[in-house]
Order: sequence, then C-alpha cells, then structure tokens
Amino acid sequence: MDTILIIDDDDQLRKSFEKLMVEEGYRVRTAASGEAGLEEMRAAVPDLVILDMRLPGMGGLETFRAIHALEPKLPVIIMTAYGTTETAIEATKCGAFDYVLKPFDIPGMLALIAKALEAGRFMRSPVDLDAMSTEASREAIVGRSPAMQAVYKAIGRVAATNATVLIRGESGTGKELVARAIYQHSDRADKPFLVINCVAIPETLLESELFGYEKGAFTGAVHRRIGKLEQANGGTVFLDEIGDMPFGLQAKILRLLQERSLERLGGRQTIPVDVRIIAATNRNLETAMVDGRFREDLYYRLKVVTIWLPPLAQRRDDIPALAEYFLARHAAEAGIENPGLSAEATALLQGAPWPGNVRELSNTLQKALIFSRGAPLAVEDIAQATEEAVASAEPAPRGSDLRGWAMQMLTTGKDEDRFDRCMDAVASILVREAIDLCGGNRSKAAKLLGLSRPTLHAKIDKYGLRIETAVKED
Ligand SMILES: Nc1ncnc2c1ncn2[C@@H]1O[C@H](COP(=O)(O)OP(=O)(O)OP(=O)(O)O)[C@@H](O)[C@H]1O
Ligand SMILES: [Mg+2]
Repeated sequence: MDTILIIDDDDQLRKSFEKLMVEEGYRVRTAASGEAGLEEMRAAVPDLVILDMRLPGMGGLETFRAIHALEPKLPVIIMTAYGTTETAIEATKCGAFDYVLKPFDIPGMLALIAKALEAGRFMRSPVDLDAMSTEASREAIVGRSPAMQAVYKAIGRVAATNATVLIRGESGTGKELVARAIYQHSDRADKPFLVINCVAIPETLLESELFGYEKGAFTGAVHRRIGKLEQANGGTVFLDEIGDMPFGLQAKILRLLQERSLERLGGRQTIPVDVRIIAATNRNLETAMVDGRFREDLYYRLKVVTIWLPPLAQRRDDIPALAEYFLARHAAEAGIENPGLSAEATALLQGAPWPGNVRELSNTLQKALIFSRGAPLAVEDIAQATEEAVASAEPAPRGSDLRGWAMQMLTTGKDEDRFDRCMDAVASILVREAIDLCGGNRSKAAKLLGLSRPTLHAKIDKYGLRIETAVKED
C-alpha cells in the first residue's frame, strides 16, 4: 500500500483529502506545516508528498527544497492557489513532479497521484542484472543466454556514460526493464528518471509535455509550464516508443541532442538542459525512414549505441529460469505458496512460440497459477492457461517458429477439432496478410490467394476479419 504525506495548513482540506485518499486505498499521513512535514519525512519516507505552497513559517518552496534534498527521488506534487503559481513553477523547475491549481478536480488529481507514484516506483525499485536468486521481492533481468549476456555487457558499457541509448526489440522483450537498469547503474541514478510514452499522447500535448510553454503560447496557456525535459535537468528521460513520435517533434528532439538546449513553446529564451536520453521502440525504424515517417538524421544520431533485445523464441535456454522467476513473483504477489513447475510443463513452455515474448510468458504463468492446486504446475495447467488465447486469438505461427507453434498446438486445447483449428489459424493469417498486401482490395486478394471472391468473403466472415479497418469494400 502506498503512503501519501499531505502537507497543508488548511485543516478542512487536510481532512477531506485524507478521507478521499483512504477511500482510494492509500495510507495517509498529514502535517500542518513545513517543519512538521519534514519531521514526518524523517520518521518514515512516504511514497508521495502532496505539498501546499502557501504555508505558515517555513514556506512551501523552502519546504520543497528541504524534502528534495533529503529524498531526491521522492515524487512531490505541489498544490498552489492563485498568487503562488510562480513559486509552484519554480518548484517544478527544481524537480517537483508537477503542480495543480486549487481548487482541483478530483479525477484529475487521482490520475496525477497514480502517475507520480508510478514515476517514484520506477526510480526507486532496483533492477538486478542477471540475478542468480529468484528472490521474488526484487525485480531482475533474468537470463544467461549468450544474447542476454551481450545485453548485460552493453548495459555495463553504456550505463556510466552520458551516451544516448536506443533499445530495440519486439513488444514484451524487456526494453523498459533495460532502460531502468541503465538508469540505475548510471552516474545519474540519484537524479530523476522520467518516462514519456510517445504513442499515448496526442502530438500537441506531447510537445508541451516535453518542452513546456510560456504563458500565452496558445489559447489555454494561462501559466508558464515547465516541460519534462527541463524538469529532468541533470537526470534521464526515457522516450518510450520513439518510433511513433510525430515527425515534427523528431526535429526538436534532434536539436536537443545536438545542442543540449531547448526553447519552451512560445518562448524566445534558449534554455540549456543536461538530460540523458534513453529511447526505445519496437518499430522497424529502417522501414519508417524509407516511408518518410522517421527522420534519417535522428535515426543516425540515435543508433550509435543500440541495444537489441532478441525475441524470446531466440533465447529458449532462458525460459526455465524466467518461468521460475515469474512463478515465484506471481505466487508472492497473490500470497500463495509457490507450487513450482513440473519438468513436462517446463518443456512445454520452452517449446512454445511466445509471439508476445517475456510479457506473454509472465502472463501465462500468472494464469496457470490460478489453476494450480498446490501441486507443481503440470502441462494441463499451462494448457488451460493458454487455452483461451489459443481458441480465440490467432496463435500466430511465425517463420522458424512454426515447429514450436505446432508443438504448442499439439499439447494444448481439445483433441476433437485440432487439425481444423490449426488450419484455420494459419489460413486467417494468410488471408489477412494478402488483404493487407493488396491495400484492402478484396478482388486482388482473392486473385492472389487463388480463391473465388465468395470463398474469400466467407473466410473473412469466418475469421472475423470484417472488423479490421484494413478490410475495405472495393
Ligand atoms: N529478461 C527479463 N527478466 C525478467 N523480467 C522480464 C525480462 N524481460 C521482460 N521482463 C518483464 O516482462 C514484461 C515486459 O517487459 P517490458 O515492459 O520491459 O517490455 P517492452 O520491450 O518494453 O515491451 P513493449 O514494446 O510492449 O513496451 C515486464 O513485466 C518485464 O518486467
Ligand atoms: Mg515498453
């Protein structure tokens, strides 16, 4: 349970805020002054501080500075009323997580609190490299395959430098985990680590989130706002999904990398910023570049130090250790005893295709744990955990993984219609790819597949491909 420390001299606000937070499942401590707040901090460090700017005695900004000096990685949300916004902005410049204007809306505040807590966790929970123990309480990058050893070496080589790092690999291969490990092993480990997901935010918002803006920069810019890049000064910014970053913004990031400075939106002043950039993507940047979706100059600037995370299917030797690690973690989280894995179940896991990579393996074990009855997880438990996925979504056999996929199909699910299910799975992929290749034109796709149009239509219906936007009426 996360603990939130609220520092505000307004008794009424403290009380109602505390009630709300407790209802949300947080543990709450309160203090009526900066001095009392610091006292609380020294007694036990909370997971988040919510701090009012206008305080009697020691002022809000001074209190923030003292908190930040004590615990530089502790997220602090500043509350401010009209008249103290300048100091609130000053606090974000000095590393406060964000500020809100009183009176604030509750859903917005709750979302911000969740975001701040996550940022704090990111910074503080350590990631062990190549952990031998499967101690469930610590996060670790698990695996000793040659591919993973190369990753550890790369992390070791680049961590202590200020080099920009690009992490590449399919979805679920552990890119975010590697980014955190680099940060934690760097000289900047005691400075902020901010995560920006480039795909989750609309372009204009992403730009102001990253670069900040001056008052009046656009309609609605009532106050100056410090962007995340400036806020993380001295620290590290993780640009996740950079392959999806809007083209226009890419130029601004390139400039930041080259000149180590930025301008806020609507601002004339050039502000020097010292941030280390770690970027990640599961996109094929080379194709994106050819298609004109990714800037060539940024590509070359980023790729100098690249860490590749291979798909899980290319490091099957790691699967037993990963499986044990996840089982221990999920069991601990669920508060149940770790049932362990039977040898057959391990073999099954090791042979599966894992198109969703490590994340999928983790999810599968979490589900399998539900079916366990104290005894070591057996093939049936794993099968049951994967059954839904096998029955509903396409199991996606891919390239050299066809054999692994076949093996999984043969050892999971019901026998009755196995052959037909497998054929359908393959056929649905063929049809989808053909339609994509033909730009959504079904006549062309039918011709390409050597099928009549009605037959193709029947297949589209059968595989539920109609819902896909890729399928256009021709
Ligand atoms: N080698 C590993 N050892 C332990 N856990 C791992 C490893 N690789 C990945 N994980 C775990 O698997 C999950 C997915 O990893 P992560 O979020 O880092 O993937 P990603 O590459 O960023 O995926 P996406 O492209 O979808 O964002 C996380 O819970 C992560 O902790
Ligand atoms: Mg990720």
